[in-house]
Amino acid sequence: MATPGASPFGAPVDERVRELAPGKYEAYILAQTWVFQPNEVRIPAGSEITFYLTSKDVQHGFNLEGTNINMQILPGQVSTLTATFNEPGERFFICHEYCGVGHQTMYGRLVVE
Ligand code: CUA
Repeated sequence: MATPGASPFGAPVDERVRELAPGKYEAYILAQTWVFQPNEVRIPAGSEITFYLTSKDVQHGFNLEGTNINMQILPGQVSTLTATFNEPGERFFICHEYCGVGHQTMYGRLVVE
């Protein structure tokens, strides 16, 4: 378990997607060259999810395929957006801010079950 009051970004990777209430989730995703942690987020269809993102190093981006979810991720700041996903399916989220030689390998996926 995470220490009370500790940053949720410091929680173990598999504890960074949390169900707050039925159908209501939050995800704390840490970006760093060249990964998102966690790089897979699973939620049931019909759920609302709030994404919180920050960077451990340089500027990254977060673009969720097929949606208008598009954020810059900056060290020392938390970017946040809430969305509801009614249709089951998989969508990639990608880093769309050039962040070095591994930039094009930096992605993850949202699975709506
Ligand atoms: Cu991270 Cu491009």
